[in-house]
Amino acid sequence: MPTSAAPIIEITNLKKHFNPPDGPLAVNKISMAIMAGEIFSLLGPNGAGKTTTINMMCGLLTPTEGDVIIAGHSVIKEPLAVKRALGVVPQELAIYPTLSARQNLVFFGKLYGLGGSELNKRVDEVLEFTGLTERAKDPIEEYSGGMKRRVNIGIGLLHRPQIVFLDEPTVAIDPQSRRNILDAVKELNAQGTTILYTTHYMEEAQELSDRVGIIDHGSIIALGTQDELMQQVGEQDTLVFCVPDVPDEFIDTLGAIQGVNKALHVDDEIRLLAKDGRTVLPDAIRLINEAGLSLQSVEVHEPTLEALFLHLTGRALRD
Ligand SMILES: Nc1ncnc2c1ncn2[C@@H]1O[C@H](COP(=O)(O)OP(=O)(O)OP(=O)(O)O)[C@@H](O)[C@H]1O
Ligand SMILES: [Mg+2]
Repeated sequence: MPTSAAPIIEITNLKKHFNPPDGPLAVNKISMAIMAGEIFSLLGPNGAGKTTTINMMCGLLTPTEGDVIIAGHSVIKEPLAVKRALGVVPQELAIYPTLSARQNLVFFGKLYGLGGSELNKRVDEVLEFTGLTERAKDPIEEYSGGMKRRVNIGIGLLHRPQIVFLDEPTVAIDPQSRRNILDAVKELNAQGTTILYTTHYMEEAQELSDRVGIIDHGSIIALGTQDELMQQVGEQDTLVFCVPDVPDEFIDTLGAIQGVNKALHVDDEIRLLAKDGRTVLPDAIRLINEAGLSLQSVEVHEPTLEALFLHLTGRALRD
């Protein structure tokens, strides 16, 4: 979907301080715009402030400061008008387990003010869209995690909103449901829907997004198209060494190799950011061997959003 230059969402100085003065500053004065027709991903690790941001944007949570204008309406002053423009797919499932998918959709459709044949037609469309038609009559409690998520998504789409928020819709589900959800997001966007998608999977942000905002500790630390963001990492490569049982001190040894800008330990992997991966590789392999560690594989990656996060924060996106 070609995006327009017109913002459909404008976030200004949005802040959430839970339980002040000592509680967490979950969102720290975010300001940014989302353009009509784009897929915008908010990418950040656990606890970064993604859900808090979305919940303030849709009126579920009152901001400590700031406001969000959505399709011309202030979420603070005109929450109902905002809700009409929005479909929200929450991170936590909000469905009735003993009801079928169809019954859940009919129930929520009525809450949105739909009824009669219009509602039935829309429920059929949404079941088809989410790939649930064949199982529509089974109780949700018999569904897989991914199918439950798809029902959750369907509910958010019933009233044909012009903007849809999806909060980490693919966490802990099977690959087939994940594929279905990513394709559905693209299809919705192709039909003209503006999408705000949160995730901590950089692959998803890379596949879907027109623009990405990277959020960490409640602040947007990078924002732009993927090309713009990659320019911030510069020409750096990421070297990924799979080495079990590495002592943490050894990471500093690798970080000291000339040409290495950052070194990081994530599970069984050592990651090095380097201007030119190939020149660093022989030294790194020699040091790993000299330390008596078992090197199981080596990969050299071009710059990714993960590398940008590492570059900006010194940490991995996933913990
Ligand atoms: N109701 C609440 N009361 C107090 N603190 C909260 C509340 N909700 C969230 N927080 C805190 O705010 C911060 C941001 O949480 P949030 O749920 O927005 O993160 P997130 O980016 O959505 O993370 P995840 O990827 O795990 O869903 C965290 O430190 C969290 O503990
Ligand atoms: Mg969240």
